[in-house]
Amino acid sequence: MSDGDTNVHQFRSPGFGRRKTTPHSKGRQLDPTALEEIQALLAGRTLQRDELIEYLHLIQDTYGHLHARHLNALASEMKLGMAEVFEVASFYAHFDLVMEGEVPPPALTIRVCDSLSCELMGAQKILADLPGQVGQNVRVMRAPCMGRCHQAPVAEVGHKHHTQTSVAALAAAAEAHDSHPDIPDYQDLAAYRTAGGYRHLHSCLNGSISVEQVIEVLEGANLRGLGGAGFPTGRKWKFVRMAPKPRLMAVNGDEGEPGTIKDHHYLTRTPHKFLEGMLIGAWAVEAEAVYIYMRDEYPEVIALLKAEIAKLEAAGLSNHTKIVLRRGAGAYICGEESAMIESIEGKRGLPRHRPPYVAQEGLFGRPTLVNNVESLHWVPEILENGAEWFSSQGANERKGLRSFSVSGRVKNPGVKLAPAGITIRQLIDDYCDGMQDGQTFKGYLPGGASGGILPASLGDIPLDFDTLQPYGSFIGSAAVVVLSDQDNIADVALNLMKFFEDESCGQCTPCRVGTEKAVKLMQQDTWNVPLLEQLSKTMMDASICGLGQAAPNPILTLFKYFPEDVPR
Ligand SMILES: Cc1cc2nc3c(=O)[nH]c(=O)nc-3n(C[C@H](O)[C@H](O)[C@H](O)COP(=O)(O)O)c2cc1C
Ligand code: SF4
Ligand code: FES
Repeated sequence: MSDGDTNVHQFRSPGFGRRKTTPHSKGRQLDPTALEEIQALLAGRTLQRDELIEYLHLIQDTYGHLHARHLNALASEMKLGMAEVFEVASFYAHFDLVMEGEVPPPALTIRVCDSLSCELMGAQKILADLPGQVGQNVRVMRAPCMGRCHQAPVAEVGHKHHTQTSVAALAAAAEAHDSHPDIPDYQDLAAYRTAGGYRHLHSCLNGSISVEQVIEVLEGANLRGLGGAGFPTGRKWKFVRMAPKPRLMAVNGDEGEPGTIKDHHYLTRTPHKFLEGMLIGAWAVEAEAVYIYMRDEYPEVIALLKAEIAKLEAAGLSNHTKIVLRRGAGAYICGEESAMIESIEGKRGLPRHRPPYVAQEGLFGRPTLVNNVESLHWVPEILENGAEWFSSQGANERKGLRSFSVSGRVKNPGVKLAPAGITIRQLIDDYCDGMQDGQTFKGYLPGGASGGILPASLGDIPLDFDTLQPYGSFIGSAAVVVLSDQDNIADVALNLMKFFEDESCGQCTPCRVGTEKAVKLMQQDTWNVPLLEQLSKTMMDASICGLGQAAPNPILTLFKYFPEDVPR
């Protein structure tokens, strides 16, 4: 399990069980002790198939790993095939499967983020030096983006995140065994209500405003899906309402796109804005239940949401629907809405073929409204201030506000609420206090790992949905990573391709094999450019979902805009 000379444990990607044979203990006898342990752990629960991942978390949290004998016992209790339980457990990076005869991992794990913004700030050095400082009783693993890219480098000791960290700080944290998340100082239900919160939900519930009026305001504001696809929010609510009842709603809190920090920003400050927007959405589509899918990398958000949802229920604010909070388990692909739905159903996060669209046939086969956290955050704000307030705020003939997640080589990174259509130069100079000292602006990622890499010479184009496609790029979740003359863009593209290789769900060959092959080709001293171009075309044309279709963007934009950096 160790990476040879560096002693860094391998990152187990989602779908690693698909690249090899999924490990599972065929035909094993049930271990009576394991069965008793699982029964004790699940006592008092009515076991549900869709809660399988929750039960796996329970076992992982209790025992520090998922032993084959516990998985066998769980399969037996749930009356599921062993293969079904093993394939789900092996899909998610945060579960540690231990087969018979294998040694369980050490009690403490440190995950070091090596996605782009952290790599720019020295993640590889931490990964190289940390194992020597913490000894054999602590496991050091590389891990993908943790949504705190503006405070890079980032690592997680147990469930506690360390930002702008160092080998010394992480070694001290490991020594102290401090592994619980810090709960931020956020606006709770009482404070939100004192400030007038839930006024708009009340207006909806008591009939002072109709669903049609709410949708009209959202359409007038031109609010578009901030998970990255940019689908108009009001129109989506209308479509879901047209589908037959019963309906459901699912909130996408997966925020895995490297560089994206905005949902975390709002969730850790003003969670009730998003919760009010969510409850208005559930009212609008008459959803019987709302499932909030929150990534496991945000344990403090999961804790605060649990507490605040209980308060909402006690206050009777959510009587019109049922709120269910679900915890992800370390898989970027579960941000893709149909994969998220599969995961909420307790399965592997494999994107579905479309049609049918999730608005017609989503969670448990029901018409489902899927919205991103930030899309919902804006709903009460827009109802409060009016459509005109939101839509009149754009720059360069674009409309609305965008929360840009800025990281990389700027002086003052973070979430920057700015007019949609602002240029990267304005964003760097007016919102981020310019480039770091001694660094010259060379290029930028406008939309995280998926959105391609643009050169400084294209620094004056408006950043918004639909404006970047002519340049082979897109804005997606507006995760902006700023690069400087110190950065080699071929290295940047390789980092991004490794991310896609790790996170490919493995379902389709062009993406599973293509990302792996591309990484190998990009690790050569001399790149085979025609072959990489051919591979890119196949991935774009033949992959099932957006991950495989967008994975070649970094390579193609590197070839187009930074040819001098390509190793030839
Ligand atoms: C590979 C991939 C990853 C995605 N990751 C996320 C994510 O982490 N969060 C999110 O809200 N949307 C993500 N999306 C977009 C969702 O599929 C979907 O469009 C979105 O949740 C809809 O909500 P919205 O209309 O409010 O944006 C992803 C899409 C793809 C193809
Ligand atoms: S493109 Fe295919 S293999 Fe890649 S993540 Fe999507 S469904 Fe999975
Ligand atoms: S937290 Fe490391 S790149 Fe996002």
